[in-house]
Amino acid sequence: MTELSVLSAASECWPLIKTGGLADVAGALPAAVAPHGVAMTRFLPGYPSVLKALPRKRTVFRYDSLLGTPARILAAKHEGRPLLVLDAPGFFERDGGPYADAMGRDWLDNGLRFAAFAKAAADLAAGRTGLKPFDVLHAHDWQAGLAPAYLVYSGDQATRPASVMTIHNMAFQGWFDAAFFARLALPPVAWSIEGVEYHGGVGMLKAGLVLADAITTVSPGYAEEIRRPEFGMGLEGLVVGRQDRMHGIVNGIDAAEWNPAKDAALAAPFTADDLSGRVANKRAIEAAFGLESGDGPLFVVITRLTWQKGMDVLLEVIDHLVGLGGRLAVLGSGDAAIEAGLHAAAGRHPSRVGIRIGYDEPLAHLMQGGGDAILIPSRFEPCGLTQLYGLAYGCVPVVARTGGLGDTVIDANEAAMNAGAATGVLFSPVDYQGLAAAISRTIRLYGAGAPWRPIQQAGMKTDNSWGRSGAAYAALYRQIKEQR
Ligand code: ADP
Ligand code: GLC
Repeated sequence: MTELSVLSAASECWPLIKTGGLADVAGALPAAVAPHGVAMTRFLPGYPSVLKALPRKRTVFRYDSLLGTPARILAAKHEGRPLLVLDAPGFFERDGGPYADAMGRDWLDNGLRFAAFAKAAADLAAGRTGLKPFDVLHAHDWQAGLAPAYLVYSGDQATRPASVMTIHNMAFQGWFDAAFFARLALPPVAWSIEGVEYHGGVGMLKAGLVLADAITTVSPGYAEEIRRPEFGMGLEGLVVGRQDRMHGIVNGIDAAEWNPAKDAALAAPFTADDLSGRVANKRAIEAAFGLESGDGPLFVVITRLTWQKGMDVLLEVIDHLVGLGGRLAVLGSGDAAIEAGLHAAAGRHPSRVGIRIGYDEPLAHLMQGGGDAILIPSRFEPCGLTQLYGLAYGCVPVVARTGGLGDTVIDANEAAMNAGAATGVLFSPVDYQGLAAAISRTIRLYGAGAPWRPIQQAGMKTDNSWGRSGAAYAALYRQIKEQR
């Protein structure tokens, strides 16, 4: 098997920079595809946290002007794997998050920042920076969406690398107005519906979807859903039109990061065969959230506090959950109105509902390791990772029947219970009735004499590793390289 070289361009990568699941996936992919003969190099914007975490780096290329700003490509190694970084201080040397300032306001020049990132990705992949060209360029989400366009509209088309565009979330499309096109250094021919133009402006995700050699999304369920307007969010026609290029490949768990037998963030480790350590973790969660101690069901939520995640519906059912004897611990940040609603619920139910606003990776691990059930009432969920971590940690997922959630959790209905296959609770629709009923059902399953432990154990024994999906990406890279 000849080794294939792939450049993976993503705006986040655990543990260097993370706001959500994209980081987990970009961080895990190199190890997932390595056993299948793929040498993957990651490419990231040079945010301050990234530059700081890489003490040893060398300059491999300089731009006098990359879409108007001086920039360098730096090469480094992280955890033994190669990494390339776009050091463009004019774009990335800022306090705050990767997309927004400390107040949560999007940077006004996000279009140009990520167009520059995408252009540099294409230059790297095509060998225009002095480094060896790559066989395949793998672009993630709208931030890298223009990379396939820069490959198509510059350089020798006969020899250019193949490209894959992965949709992690159709809700974020990176649309900018028509005037923006002039700043992209793309030829006039790119301004068309077969190119980057979308509803009179520049569509960055749209460009990637039209121009990449293959498209993937992060579960088969979501690949199906985005053919419809409710989920395709305007791009459904394009998705249907390029159906022969579309692949649904479910995300996996990085076992080096998420393994309850060896997780340093837990108060006590445990395994599927010996769950006794979970009690100490439950006590630690109660302490961290100021909850009363007890053996009754403890629900956890770890998420961005947004409409996508159904957090407005969660607010509506908290009184019901507490009324049935449940307790709730929520870790998240996001919409101010949802944060306020959560604080109000905690005020109504002191010691039954605990809220932590913020981002806390070790606490997220502890909550999976000691919570009884994780609530995920998402309106749409391309894949979802927290249900996979819940499965691996015996924290039973209670999830909306959508996207990757529906693909990865087996509902505890009678047939599945009898077969010993049930791993969680699935519900629809995402509204008060749906979620309240799911919580009632979960509490019944948890009750004395009920078959809770087999559900936990079936989840922990499910194979959610990157094995099959790593092989699927590798096969796809090979296929599109050969087709070129
Ligand atoms: P999304 O990427 O849509 O936010 P995913 O379920 O794919 O959803 O991934 C979310 C990732 O972010 C998971 O690794 C989850 O544990 C983590 N996460 C979300 N919110 C927080 C938080 N407040 N603190 C710590 N980790 C969080
Ligand atoms: C997006 C999606 C989430 C998915 C993640 C990683 O953030 O919202 O469902 O798990 O990307 O692919």
